[in-house]
Amino acid sequence: MVNKIEIKDVRDPNEIKKFEDIQFKVWGGGVVPSHLIVAVKEVGGVVKGAYVDDKLVGFVYGFIGKYKGRYCIYSHQLAVLPQYQNLGIGEKLKIEQMNWSIDNGYDLIIWTFDPARSKNAWLNIGKLGVITNTYLVEHYGEMEDELNRGVPSDRFMVEWWIKSPWINERPRYRFDKDLKFEYGTALSLIKDEVKITPSQVKHLDDEYVSIEIPIDFDNLGQDTQKLKRIWKLRMREAFQYYFNRGYTVIHFVRNQYMDRGIYILKRGFDPYDKSTW
Ligand SMILES: CC(C)(COP(=O)(O)OP(=O)(O)OC[C@H]1O[C@@H](n2cnc3c(N)ncnc32)[C@H](O)[C@@H]1OP(=O)(O)O)[C@@H](O)C(=O)NCCC(=O)NCCS
Repeated sequence: MVNKIEIKDVRDPNEIKKFEDIQFKVWGGGVVPSHLIVAVKEVGGVVKGAYVDDKLVGFVYGFIGKYKGRYCIYSHQLAVLPQYQNLGIGEKLKIEQMNWSIDNGYDLIIWTFDPARSKNAWLNIGKLGVITNTYLVEHYGEMEDELNRGVPSDRFMVEWWIKSPWINERPRYRFDKDLKFEYGTALSLIKDEVKITPSQVKHLDDEYVSIEIPIDFDNLGQDTQKLKRIWKLRMREAFQYYFNRGYTVIHFVRNQYMDRGIYILKRGFDPYDKSTW
């Protein structure tokens, strides 16, 4: 039972040092040294910590970047200790980061995330309202931490247009049965007794299309490690095909059996122009 969750600016270098331990517990390696995060805080970045009963349990930090010709905040890491996850702490950290960014004159926050991670997709797209039409191949090169070892480090670059009407006025859907429009399925998940595999990619011309992913990417049945690679390459093919044709990922939902996550892409979308929603 969690009593009090507080999000605070973190300025004390000894407190920022504790981020290293959280990173290790969350990713199992690939730790960003705290002196870099101290530098971020010093030169106009945003560093926030989440406290439960005065104990640091998570953090987010970001620094000033330039993307597609405009200054923005690049959010580099968000992490919550495993035993405190799924309590809304990740969302609270991001909302505080957004408030700070608006107060400091920014209208865009960007970051990367792994398209194969259903939970991150729900938090980022479903709960926060980010969009993406940018697919980065092998963005971090070969990664050595436990979650990423041996799998292509492809990422979405997501855009959080924090002053756009999309953030507060967009239609919100949690499950596929709630969706209010027709869509074609470009990539579907095939499940049998022993494994979870992707279909071939379909080339559709619908206004909305969907791309399905497993709900738990670390658990694909027999030979999970090999299947993770196959899934990542199939997702790469699908997202690249549709992004190159003017589609944007705008929603993420789950099905009622909670065995798949579903990205919804729309052609010709603009978060500032409601007629394109
Ligand atoms: C990503 C992370 C920061 C989220 O923090 P958190 O405090 O658990 O986030 P929240 O509780 O605000 O939101 C998580 C949501 O995902 C949902 N969820 C959990 N597992 C899920 C899954 N497999 N698929 C879809 N949604 C899932 C939770 O129910 C919750 O949604 P809800 O509030 O609508 O019920 C945390 O899980 C983490 O540290 N992960 C490892 C590191 C990482 O991936 N960092 C981000 C990329 S740099």
